[in-house]
Amino acid sequence: MNMKHPIVRFLVVCITYTIVVATGSVGLEQTFAASGTTLTVEASQTGAHISPTLYGLMFEDISHSGDGGLYAELIRNRTFKDDPSTPVGWSVVTSSGAQGTISLDNSHAINNLALTTSLQLQIEQVDKGQRVGVANEGYWGIPVRPDTTYQVSFDALASTDFAGPLTVDIENIDGSIIYARSMINTISPNWAHYTLKLQTSAQVKPSITNRLVISAGSTGTIWLNLVSLFPPTWNARSNGMRMDLMQKMDAMHPSFLRFPGGNYLEGNTFEDRFQWKNTIGGLEQRPGHNNSAWGYRSSDGLGLLEYLEWCEDLKMMPILAVYAGYALHGSHVPVRTSQFDSLVQDALDEVQYITGDTTTYWGQRRASNGHPKPFDLQYVEIGNEDFFDRSGSYEDRFAAFYDALKKAYPRIQVISTVKVRSRTPDVIDEHYYKSPEESARLATLYDSYSRNGPKIFVGEYASQEGKPTPNLNSALGDAAMMTGMERNSDVVMGACYAPLFVNVNAPAWGTNLIGYDALNSYGSPSYYVQQLFSLYHGDVVLPTSLSGGNGQLYFVTSKLTKSGTIYIKVVNTSPDAQDTQIKINGATSIDATGKATVLTSASVKDTNSLNDPTKVVPVAHVLSSLSSSFTYSFAPNSVTVLQLTERNT
Ligand code: AHR
Repeated sequence: MNMKHPIVRFLVVCITYTIVVATGSVGLEQTFAASGTTLTVEASQTGAHISPTLYGLMFEDISHSGDGGLYAELIRNRTFKDDPSTPVGWSVVTSSGAQGTISLDNSHAINNLALTTSLQLQIEQVDKGQRVGVANEGYWGIPVRPDTTYQVSFDALASTDFAGPLTVDIENIDGSIIYARSMINTISPNWAHYTLKLQTSAQVKPSITNRLVISAGSTGTIWLNLVSLFPPTWNARSNGMRMDLMQKMDAMHPSFLRFPGGNYLEGNTFEDRFQWKNTIGGLEQRPGHNNSAWGYRSSDGLGLLEYLEWCEDLKMMPILAVYAGYALHGSHVPVRTSQFDSLVQDALDEVQYITGDTTTYWGQRRASNGHPKPFDLQYVEIGNEDFFDRSGSYEDRFAAFYDALKKAYPRIQVISTVKVRSRTPDVIDEHYYKSPEESARLATLYDSYSRNGPKIFVGEYASQEGKPTPNLNSALGDAAMMTGMERNSDVVMGACYAPLFVNVNAPAWGTNLIGYDALNSYGSPSYYVQQLFSLYHGDVVLPTSLSGGNGQLYFVTSKLTKSGTIYIKVVNTSPDAQDTQIKINGATSIDATGKATVLTSASVKDTNSLNDPTKVVPVAHVLSSLSSSFTYSFAPNSVTVLQLTERNT
């Protein structure tokens, strides 16, 4: 055995430790004492109170996080607006010898808002037993799972010479396997809405290389619009969210959701901004918009009410970002213009839509959209990363939004995206995208922040190593930085990793927390760091000091006052185990039994992926023979949470 290898050495120390502690031998104590590293926790003193909103989520539709991601719709380009010249995502399907064509058609609009363009399927020749149809490829495939009911809906009209029926199936990519099939016997010569269910059998194996096909066996012309296919969704919400991704977020116990961006809020141009009023009501009312910041069109099926219901489902507080007049290409809407005033009014209306009761205009609109109960809203952010606005216009833009919001909603806490002088924001949003090493250096950043100024919201951060999702090294950098945020949570009211999601087929950003394709998803090592930090903390920080060590241990300790549980989080960014004496001062007694949860792997380059989703995951161990002074060896390249219980009786 190579005793110099850090992992081997760590394992040997662990084994020795278990035996020695169990027998009460002093031999190991002497070994640790020689390393001279001591972590001292002051259990009877209190540091910062930890914000109950410290750990949350940030979401924007980037890398198909919404369409083709969390938003469970499986049909790409369901209203045919992705490209005005071609039906992107759609193709014609013909049996050998049959003939048909598809094209975009703007002469059969259903309304003049969202459903202006339809897909025209012309079936020119089809013999008995043959078919001609249209296929949708989904977002890099259509997920098939056993024993699953899919909801299909579409608007259709047929030429009078079309005899029907219309067949709808989910099939594999060459049509040789039909997983689920249903039929509509007659299609009206006027636009009508059709719904049906598709059911897979218990025997089918999960697969992704599939398509939805709508076809017929008789000649004529059919027009289609708003073609939709939903798998089961979280909480069985219609127009809802993808189950596995919701489950992954739920497992993080997030306290808030910052939305809808990010650059997505702003767009490259004024026209491409997130316009919340276009994202509410029936899908036929939502025109969608060009998500120019991230290079694709958004359906806006994931709209304002869906964001709020997502908050409701996961018990998160919304942190709403409102568009504040800056477009990413560098232009801004000047204050004291009617165009700017209407943006401020839009923000006020949006807050009323969220919080107003049904006696208010927008509260009533929310009720008519299906949610009479108002939502609680405590934080509104004005814009996003306005330090990019070189004109200096943010001072005045922020002031106008701040004044209007404070006047109408005095309780709302207003967040600025950069330091401003014209007003004192309640909170400032800071963003950090750094190398893992630079992130670790930020662990002490907030130790010296003023306690008299605005609070800090770390609205985006992530160590940038690993694509499309971070490796262990990034997770260590994140964790080290997070010890500083938690220790200073009297200043840092909230923090959220960004970006949250990436469809691995279309990454528009390097390093993202959770990866997926149409069928499967996985959490990166940084995901597990987020989860560990969010799940394991108390309500007060316990002052903790370190002596000795090699300068690569980052730590924070907290206590849950009502239970006496003490959480000692230690990040070891070095390739060597760190043998450490842990002293708990001021505790009457410490339970003999505790828990250590450790995230580590053989190499800092190790990561998770669709093919190997659990290579780097936390592992929990029972600790025994604990007392107010014990020894622990922190594994090389690891994040460890030690969980102890203080007894005061
Ligand atoms: O998280 C990705 C992008 O990074 C966000 O959209 C933007 O706010 C930041 O520059």
